[in-house]
Amino acid sequence: MLYDSPATDTPIERLRVVGQPHPRIDGALKTTGTAPYAYERHDVAEGQVYGWPVVAGIPKGRILGIDTLAARGAPGVLGIVTAPEVGPHENGPMNTALLFGGDRVQHYHQAIAVVIAETFEQARAAAALVSVDYAPEAGRFDLHAAAAAHEPGDPDMSHGDFESAFAEAPVTIDQRYSTPGEYHAAMEPHATIAAWEGDRLTVWTSNQMIAWARRDLATVLGIPQENIRVDSPYIGGGFGGKLFVRSDVVMAAHAARRVGRPVKVMLPRPFITNNGTHRAATLQHIRIGAGTDGRITALSHESTSGNLPGGSPETATAQSEMFYAGANRMTRVNLVELDLPEGNAMRAPGETPGLMALEIAMDEMAEALKMDPVAFRALNDTQVNPANPDRRFSRRNFVDCLERGAAAFGWSARNPVPGQRREGDWLIGHGMAGAFRGSPALASGARVRLQPDGRVIVESDMTDIGTGSYTIMAQTAAEMMGLELGQIEMRLGDSDYPVAAGSGGQFGASCSTAGVYAACVKLREAVAKALGLNQAEIDFSDGMVRSGARAIPLAEAAAGGEIVVEDTIEFGDFRSAAELDTFGAHFVEVGVNVATGETRVRRMLAVCDSGRILNPITARSQVIGAMTMGVGAALSEELAVDTARGFFVNHDLASYEVPVHSDIPSQEVIFIEDTDANSSPLKAKGIGELGLCGVGAAISNAVYNATGVRVRDYPLTLDKLL
Ligand code: MOS
Repeated sequence: MLYDSPATDTPIERLRVVGQPHPRIDGALKTTGTAPYAYERHDVAEGQVYGWPVVAGIPKGRILGIDTLAARGAPGVLGIVTAPEVGPHENGPMNTALLFGGDRVQHYHQAIAVVIAETFEQARAAAALVSVDYAPEAGRFDLHAAAAAHEPGDPDMSHGDFESAFAEAPVTIDQRYSTPGEYHAAMEPHATIAAWEGDRLTVWTSNQMIAWARRDLATVLGIPQENIRVDSPYIGGGFGGKLFVRSDVVMAAHAARRVGRPVKVMLPRPFITNNGTHRAATLQHIRIGAGTDGRITALSHESTSGNLPGGSPETATAQSEMFYAGANRMTRVNLVELDLPEGNAMRAPGETPGLMALEIAMDEMAEALKMDPVAFRALNDTQVNPANPDRRFSRRNFVDCLERGAAAFGWSARNPVPGQRREGDWLIGHGMAGAFRGSPALASGARVRLQPDGRVIVESDMTDIGTGSYTIMAQTAAEMMGLELGQIEMRLGDSDYPVAAGSGGQFGASCSTAGVYAACVKLREAVAKALGLNQAEIDFSDGMVRSGARAIPLAEAAAGGEIVVEDTIEFGDFRSAAELDTFGAHFVEVGVNVATGETRVRRMLAVCDSGRILNPITARSQVIGAMTMGVGAALSEELAVDTARGFFVNHDLASYEVPVHSDIPSQEVIFIEDTDANSSPLKAKGIGELGLCGVGAAISNAVYNATGVRVRDYPLTLDKLL
């Protein structure tokens, strides 16, 4: 189905199941520990053995030789595959660094061999006997040094005359901000079981994008993708770290071929950070000019990040092109080469670090104007893209977010003068920030099977990375077919099923449900035909199909055997005719200890404008999880770079500190009740990443309000406040 005009009066609008607060249908499996994750799938293939990775101990250079003799003689060892013997491989379009192959070392902890043994302990013990001879090369590991030597190129976006307008503006700010590298820190490590049958490969793995994984694994291995099956029904967190095929999959595939048995490979926790991808650190420069009336006349945002040669920049300026009004504007993204591990997508790439800077700048600008920060943002709202005024925002309720948030949070009670409020040993502060995140769409397919007993099975390669895909897709099918949620059986994450949007870019929920919608439209037609009913008048509810005076059980349509149809929703020019984005506002109260300088978040509120909320429970869980992630970004998370040895030092969960929900006594979420028919037939937009956008700045602004100390370099560790 091509989605080419706004949906009206669809069965979704009944909202009997869609939009209702159903708990996750996979919730019991998760909370009882019985959902089988990749490494635990003992039953999928007989005779599984274990692979342990050997990873590079230098950040850059060549492998001259790998001595495996001692390891080969160790107890239980079945084989060893080394990267040099495999040879270099092509990459899929999303990966930069080599995953496993060749003699080049591009980054620290790159996978260079895998030792296969009968048991986990034997593989690990034997891997310790492997010794590697390197020819190290000098590398570049210091973002500040690389940025200082970099000549900026042309702006990425330029509208009006920023420099003149900024020079003429009566009120300006001109500040620099930095965000550190961060990594995904998913609870489930990267893990794969691989098995070959002849020239056909099956991988049971943990991956957000099944079709990309299949396509890219075919490229890496040099085999047709038709010969590969990828299965990933449960995923213990992705956050962008599992968007693309990773080294565990490639090692498991080579290892299984070598020993002729299924092999399971998990990346040990201390290898994940440097072996995998991370959110690149940024150095940002923001200049804003406004009239004395508070209206922005000039806004520029420049960002510099590093990556391996051929890698992408962190697009921290993304939101600054159109979040706030202002005729004269400029953005520029600079990319410098570094030999650190690969920078790549992490939850809301671009906007997350971008808003951590922009929304401090907006707070500073409001202060310079002696305006309330909420009122300043509302004044500079825009319903058109300011750099392209012919393009309107499809739905934009940003001012509603600000006003409802301010009222619910009690913003008017805030003391605008910093450092005035104290409770015992704690300085109390309040801060807020705007939130903006794009809402892209990808085609998404599903197959639906009406069973003779009236149940419907939904099959799709869509993934559920802990987000609620199982539940909202089942809700969609139930709504469309007039069934209860319990009459829908979900089968996800298998490349044998139709290709869905996958989980990324906060497009998963709106697109995957639209794919189920499209398939169910077809199933309704097939049912009408099977029952000889007039399609135009047909109604599906309570397990019955009604047309005129006739009422027939849905099951009867499949009495002669199951009815199977599939379809894919595709989004054409219509969807891209307007700016389609999501908006929000974050409000935070912090306490900062006067003696130690430690910051505690006392309460948080997010207001989100994301079109229809498909399930208030799963959506709220996405947002409070994102808010918690934002607390980490603000206060503790930082990949510490050893600029001499070229790696991230704190590569485990003991030294890379992430907060948990119990660190934050109160989190509230308000959803703006709206629908966006330009977005999808369900009129939903993304929410999973919006909840993170702006959180860091809201906390930084609250810390400033508490202490009078303006910190522009994240994270806000206590040393920066003393
Ligand atoms: Mo998201 S960074 O696209 O998983």
